[in-house]
Amino acid sequence: MMQKILIVDDEPGGRDALESLLLNQGYQLALASNGIETLSIARTINPDLILLDIMMPGMDGFEVCRQLRADPRIAEVPVIMVTALDDRDSRLQGIEVGADDFVTKPIDRGELRTRVRSILRLNRYRSLQDERVKLEEQINHLTALRCIDIAITTGQDISHTLQMITEQVTGQLHVDAAIALRYDPLRLCFDICACHGFPEHIIPFGSVSIQDSLVDRVLFDQKEIHDPQFFKRILGGDHPYALLGDYFQDYHAIPLVSRGTVLGVLEIFQKAPLDLGLDAQEFLITLSGQAAIAIDSSRTLEDLRRTNTDLVQAYDATIEGWSRAMDLRDKETEGHTIRVTEKTVELARRMGMDGSELLQMRRGALLHDIGKLGVPDAILLKPGPLTDEEWVIMRKHPTYAYELISPIRYLSHALDIPYCHHEKWNGSGYPQGLKGEEIPLAARLFAIIDVWDALSSDRPYRRGWPAEKVFKYLREGSGIHFDPKVVDEFFQLMR
Ligand code: C2E
Ligand code: SIN
Ligand code: SIN
Ligand code: FE
Ligand code: FE
Repeated sequence: MMQKILIVDDEPGGRDALESLLLNQGYQLALASNGIETLSIARTINPDLILLDIMMPGMDGFEVCRQLRADPRIAEVPVIMVTALDDRDSRLQGIEVGADDFVTKPIDRGELRTRVRSILRLNRYRSLQDERVKLEEQINHLTALRCIDIAITTGQDISHTLQMITEQVTGQLHVDAAIALRYDPLRLCFDICACHGFPEHIIPFGSVSIQDSLVDRVLFDQKEIHDPQFFKRILGGDHPYALLGDYFQDYHAIPLVSRGTVLGVLEIFQKAPLDLGLDAQEFLITLSGQAAIAIDSSRTLEDLRRTNTDLVQAYDATIEGWSRAMDLRDKETEGHTIRVTEKTVELARRMGMDGSELLQMRRGALLHDIGKLGVPDAILLKPGPLTDEEWVIMRKHPTYAYELISPIRYLSHALDIPYCHHEKWNGSGYPQGLKGEEIPLAARLFAIIDVWDALSSDRPYRRGWPAEKVFKYLREGSGIHFDPKVVDEFFQLMR
């Protein structure tokens, strides 16, 4: 685009001289003959350079320059002053009011063209530089948004994400301080989750009650609020921000809205009146959107966790219920299953298991004989020894357990005990005939506890054995029925 030069001189002769020197040089020329006209043309065409005469009736060149510099729309236009004589005082005064360069009358053609060209070039670089600064700012904004996105998608702690957001607001928008609040619909208040930029002794904390009229407005209008009077109204009250009035003059509140619901507020505090540019406002709106998403997804996660905990408790209560029902049917002594389960967990802990392993063992032990649900009463409760046909059915109970439990994903890691508790160390057990360490450790542990408890208790088919007889039997089963290492640990536990 052609560069525009505004020539200002009250004398037609002066204007003509400048015009003829710059004609056909690739510039677009405009002319003004007094100060008022200069300012109005400058505002209209936004020239790339003004050649300004000093001595003019009415408004002189100095005053024109002063007014140019005072108007933000044209303050950056380069000005070359045309002085009648090589007068040092005028130059000093020119510099004071913001002139960029000088040429003297009578005008030397070469000098004028050089000055004009170099100042225009400088100006072009300056605007390129401005563009670059803006671009860098945009990149910084985008980088910040990206970091926050990552924090959200990786499920970072919500206060950590909101802290990042308050830091970005203050850092990138040159805002003095910011607070992020989360709305708690049960307690009807906003909790301060993160803040940045406050002097240490007035860092706000706690909650802001909904009774506060501004919060009301944020909730119902779901619109940004700008209220410089905010601090005056809360002065002397018990609002957590009551002390902030000494430091800040301006206040903005931006609601954090996700899916039509206000989830929080982002507040901005400024020591001087704050007027955000368009870019800054856009960035702020994007940040608020992210903050809202962050709060929303953290709520969803919290709800999920809570639901999951509830479910786990419900499942575990159900499992204990099943195992009590089994004890009742088996006519075993009260609390038999719970007792066996507790002993198994104790032995397992001794042998170095922990955490979820223990939890799975506990569930497995509670359910160890659930397969007996598939064994008819006539066999299960038979007062005497079983026939071969009856044994075939009785030995199916671990397989029944497998068929019952394996489709339940929640219990998939608790299967070892119900399925393998009748395997024997020497391979003579059932249902798979596993041998030695092929038998899952959980089942090896459980087997000795189960036999110990079964032999010690009355059964429909026999009376309970005395303790010495039971221990002797277990000791003799080491390396045959039971894992020898487990037998040793068991005896240390029982001692
Ligand atoms: P259970 O009563 O819970 O017994 C578990 C395991 O303890 C038995 O597995 C066995 O290894 C051991 N055990 C229990 N009682 C005795 C006993 O009197 N002598 C010996 N040497 N070991 C004993 P096993 O043998 O695979 O039995 C599985 C289930 O079959 C038993 O669970 C019980 O419900 C049933 N059962 C076993 N024998 C008889 C029986 O003679 N009559 C009836 N009605 N049921 C039996
Ligand atoms: C808040 O939004 O919680 C701060 C106070 C106000 O807006 O009045
Ligand atoms: C059996 O498996 O038949 C009886 C239980 C045992 O003594 O091992
Ligand atoms: Fe069993
Ligand atoms: Fe049992």
